[in-house]
Amino acid sequence: MPVDTVGTDDRLRAGSRGDETRPGSAHDAWRVVLSEAASLVDETSRGAAERGRALGEFRRALDELRRAHDRLEARVAERTAELARANEKLRDEALERARVEQARTALQRQLATLQEDERRRIARDLHDQTGQLLASLSLAVQAVGADGALPARSHGRLAEVQRVSDELGRQVHEMAVRLRPTALDDLGLPGALGQLVADWSARTGVGADLQVTGLEVERLPAEVETALYRVVQEALTNVAKHAHARQVSVTLGRLGLEATLVVEDDGRGFAPDRVDPGRLGLLGMTERVTLAGGRLDVESSPGAGTTVIARLPADDRAGPADA
Ligand SMILES: Nc1ncnc2c1ncn2[C@@H]1O[C@H](COP(=O)(O)OP(=O)(O)O)[C@@H](O)[C@H]1O
Ligand SMILES: [Mg+2]
Repeated sequence: MPVDTVGTDDRLRAGSRGDETRPGSAHDAWRVVLSEAASLVDETSRGAAERGRALGEFRRALDELRRAHDRLEARVAERTAELARANEKLRDEALERARVEQARTALQRQLATLQEDERRRIARDLHDQTGQLLASLSLAVQAVGADGALPARSHGRLAEVQRVSDELGRQVHEMAVRLRPTALDDLGLPGALGQLVADWSARTGVGADLQVTGLEVERLPAEVETALYRVVQEALTNVAKHAHARQVSVTLGRLGLEATLVVEDDGRGFAPDRVDPGRLGLLGMTERVTLAGGRLDVESSPGAGTTVIARLPADDRAGPADA
């Protein structure tokens, strides 16, 4: 813009005001107009150039933006693909872990079954063979005792042999029962538990009662019955060893698809979360129940007695799938 203190209109007006008489005044006016026009054209074209430049810049900025956007899109696509790959890897790993875990559980169950079979075999041998031999020994000792020709001093010794032989027979029988309760096979779970609880109470002098409901007709899966029997065995052993209880109650009930066993004592209790990790009884119970498809909870606190609760599938189909 030309620096001009007087505006074009003023100059035009100045040029025309009463100066018609002055030669050259029209010429001057035209000069002014022409120069103004020239500067207008100048200015306009300069504006056009500026607009062109601005437009160019705008276009360049747009292009840059478009390129940045494309680059971003490419990065996003890349990251998405990476994430998809990572996801797939994780899924594969999870599947593999699940497979390994399943195989481990199947193996453990197989081991538990094998162990139970082995115990059953040893228990049978103990009962049928060792037990029979001891019974024969006992009879033979009685026969010798009945022999009138025996010197009197031998009678005392013979009585001692008889006592040891009877004690051996009792211990072998107990060992066989502990190893594998034939009662479980012969009497079913309620009968076997009845025997176990009564024997335990007589042996320890601790009062015990048993209540079974809902198991009058159908039997539970063999693995579940064995697990429940073992839980009662270990829970009662713990009561005798640790609880100083006066009374224990054992209840077993079946409700729909679940069998629930509760062993509750009124003893001194303990803190289940502070059990020495080297102790295997509670761990073994938990393991056995878990393998049979159930769960075990121990509720106790010092001074408040102990309750062991096992929940197991009452139905073969509810147990873990055989692998
Ligand atoms: N019924 C119970 N009353 C009191 N304490 C118990 C009872 N059952 C378990 N305990 C406590 O829990 C611990 C762990 O039990 P367990 O795993 O069976 O091992 P263990 O009987 O060989 O000591 C016991 O040492 C005892 O302190
Ligand atoms: Mg124990």
